[in-house]
Amino acid sequence: MPSLVEAATSQVGRKLLTGITGLLLLFFLFFHLAGNLTIFGGEHAMNIYSMTLHDLGWPLWIARIGLALVFIIHAWVGISIWWRRRKARPENYHVYSSKGEPSRQSLSSRSMAITGIILLIFLVFHINTFALGDTGTVLIDGREVSDLKTLVIETFQNPLYAFGYAIIMLLLAAHLGHGIWSSFVSLTMKSRKCSDLMYTIGATVAILLALGFLFIPLYIYFTGGCGAMIAGSQCV
Ligand code: HEM
Repeated sequence: MPSLVEAATSQVGRKLLTGITGLLLLFFLFFHLAGNLTIFGGEHAMNIYSMTLHDLGWPLWIARIGLALVFIIHAWVGISIWWRRRKARPENYHVYSSKGEPSRQSLSSRSMAITGIILLIFLVFHINTFALGDTGTVLIDGREVSDLKTLVIETFQNPLYAFGYAIIMLLLAAHLGHGIWSSFVSLTMKSRKCSDLMYTIGATVAILLALGFLFIPLYIYFTGGCGAMIAGSQCV
């Protein structure tokens, strides 16, 4: 009987690991988008949301460590699958084909490794900008709370950040467009009909999710942070 490590590092084990971790990251992204959209809620909605999270204390840290591990495993295994496939492919192999099954080769699928690596690099900058960013404080019901909302609004006044984020969110759409379907195929016994449907659903979810994220920096940039959708903005 193979050990757990042997099973996890086998071809099938690797595909399963990327599938499971990919879906966990997808759940995180939904949660994160919902949290980010609180910027369009009441005047203090985003800061109250962030305060509520931080008030969780050690469970938040366990969730953060778990999330970091999931990101690392997903990236590590994903890159190793890509590397093995690359080594197995003959030089100058430009024709993409698959045996029997309908081919899902597309620009999105062929660029999974590169979009994934760019997203990882983005994450380092992103966490440094917001999670570790220098926020001021704001008084909410007599309590001094980190003013994350103002940090987000100020950051996206800068065109470099606003458009840089917009481009990264397009890469996120490309990565998820293939990734959601691929996770589904890895985790289920696909039938062709089901797989076709899942490809369409996966691509639609990817585009909607990325549009949700993309809307925030662009809205803030083009309204100068004073748009009607942002309650309590200090603009005149
Ligand atoms: C326009 C898009 C995005 C905006 C405005 C945004 C905003 C934020 C903010 C404000 C925080 C700090 C939260 C806090 O400290 O309470 C944060 C943290 C974080 N974001 Fe994003 N985010 C965006 C896209 C993304 C994407 C696409 C990913 C993943 C690929 C991501 C992953 C993370 C992670 C891992 C953290 C750290 C979570 C933590 O420490 O609790 N974000 N983001």
